Amino acid sequence: MCGIVGYIGNKNTKEILLDGLKELEYRGYDSAGIAVLQGDTFESFKAVGKLINLEEKTKDFITDRFAVGIGHTRWATHGKPTELNAHPHLGESSYVVHNGIIENYAELKKELMHNGVTFLSQTDTEVIVHLFEKNLKTSSSAFGAFSQTIKEIEGAYAILLVTKSEPDSIFFAKHGSPMILGKNSENENYFASSDTPLIGQCTDVNYFEDGDFGYVNPQEIAIFDKNENKKEPNFSKLSTNKLSAQKDGFRFFMEKEIYEQSVVIADTLMGRVSESEVLFDELDANLFDGINEIKLCACGTSYHSALSASYLFERYAKIKTSVEVASEFRYRQPIMTKDTLFVVISQSGETADTLETLKMAKEAGLKTLVICNVDNSSMVRLADATVLTRAGIEKGVASTKAFATQVTVFWMLTLFVAKLRNTLTNEEIAKQIILLREVPASVKVTDSMHERIKRLSKRYLHGHGFFFIGRDIFYPLALEGALKLKEISYLHAEGYPSGEMKHGPIALADPELFTIALLPQHLLYEKAKSNVEELSARDSTICVISALEFDKADDFIQISTCQDYMLEFFEMMVVVQLLSLEISIRLGNDVDMPRNLAKSVTVE
Ligand code: AGP
Repeated sequence: MCGIVGYIGNKNTKEILLDGLKELEYRGYDSAGIAVLQGDTFESFKAVGKLINLEEKTKDFITDRFAVGIGHTRWATHGKPTELNAHPHLGESSYVVHNGIIENYAELKKELMHNGVTFLSQTDTEVIVHLFEKNLKTSSSAFGAFSQTIKEIEGAYAILLVTKSEPDSIFFAKHGSPMILGKNSENENYFASSDTPLIGQCTDVNYFEDGDFGYVNPQEIAIFDKNENKKEPNFSKLSTNKLSAQKDGFRFFMEKEIYEQSVVIADTLMGRVSESEVLFDELDANLFDGINEIKLCACGTSYHSALSASYLFERYAKIKTSVEVASEFRYRQPIMTKDTLFVVISQSGETADTLETLKMAKEAGLKTLVICNVDNSSMVRLADATVLTRAGIEKGVASTKAFATQVTVFWMLTLFVAKLRNTLTNEEIAKQIILLREVPASVKVTDSMHERIKRLSKRYLHGHGFFFIGRDIFYPLALEGALKLKEISYLHAEGYPSGEMKHGPIALADPELFTIALLPQHLLYEKAKSNVEELSARDSTICVISALEFDKADDFIQISTCQDYMLEFFEMMVVVQLLSLEISIRLGNDVDMPRNLAKSVTVE
């Protein structure tokens, strides 16, 4: 999830671009850059790390006349956060910035290189500018070359391109990644990934739709739809509140991030699943040579995604899998064998306990893999191999979309390993991939579901505690639901295996004990149902989450009828996230920055 800005006008283009990028830092960045075209002179600057590094590099650069300019903050998905990989990317006489993923970049790059094009970066984005310049050679206009280019690329993108062949225009295209066009009474035009950079600069905004592409210059705003029909801009008044703009109108970043799960899971899948197999071009297949066991190690929510993964690895890849709490593992003098692949999971890549276990595994000579959301983090730099989740920056301290993309990566990794070990047939893998592709739809928040949970939450503001219960892979989901509630509502909650309640905890059963029961239709339904009935018989207050009606529940949240328990997992995940959110809001807590917590625990 990157941030892009563009400007056409007579003001200080450099300052406007940098100010716009500053407003996009909530989208996260590990590098940034700008390109400005004044007449037929390009100036471009890039810097790794915080935006202040780019400001330092551009401090002597002045833009004091008409110019077109584009800028970008990068959240790495393809290629390390280096200056070469930072946007904008240069062709011969054009620059491009891009937010999203070009799914067919590999074949396009191969063809361009075959035709003699030299690539400087590892990114998918660079393909766009070289393809444009190839098309420029055979097109009657820059716009003709640009529209041909857009036809040839596949995937998710928000693109801005500037070129000497049309020095007063910015070319744009939007598909699957956000982009907005702003204007004001001084005939200036602004582009941005979200409202925030436009507030205070523009009076009216046009939210591009998927498939929109075209160009803007001082004389014209030319927008074409996916059928190449010209369409009128649809300008509306711009809001004036920056913070609500960063939250896109949601009440909290956590709420926004729950709603983002559909998009970021689609990003995490993109370019990694074909009809018949999972592809991790960032992994060498020899990573698994000689491996007979997988050990997963993490903290908190990341531990819960690791625990979820263990069920999948053993069930589908038939590989022995164990899971460790990092803070425990690092001091118990564990036995580590070199036929074990040591996998650490971390949203931040900086959690001290997890980082230390990674160091232990490396010292013991094990192969190491990190599943992480922040490229260039300490764990990414240390591990032998990395698979990035593409959740974008996660601002809410209580993790949601990072967990969702971690589980998605693990599901893909399980199939990847099952293929290597021949433990699933091609047909079985293809069926699993069909289910994987359903996940973005299954985590879309519906107004009716959110409204139901909002209403229900008023009943759960007291009591002497909560049990979240589930069986099999729904047990780690129960743990995650309990952690979400604890973190942001400060109410006591425990995740428990449903089958364990009768071994003691059921002694707590009474009307003031709230049980949130996960009852998937496609996994041990009857077993889990009887566990819930045991609680109901003892007058516990029970909220069942299931696709199937349950008459013994005091409350019931119905999810859709799914084809598989993994889709039920993701639907129930959204329910428990929203339930903790709405309870916390009713209690008046600071959902995004709960007391006593930090987003990344870099101390013991
Ligand atoms: C999750 O909601 C918590 N904020 C916390 O448990 C977190 O998952 C844990 O600290 C691990 O962080 P990491 O994923 O960045 O390593």
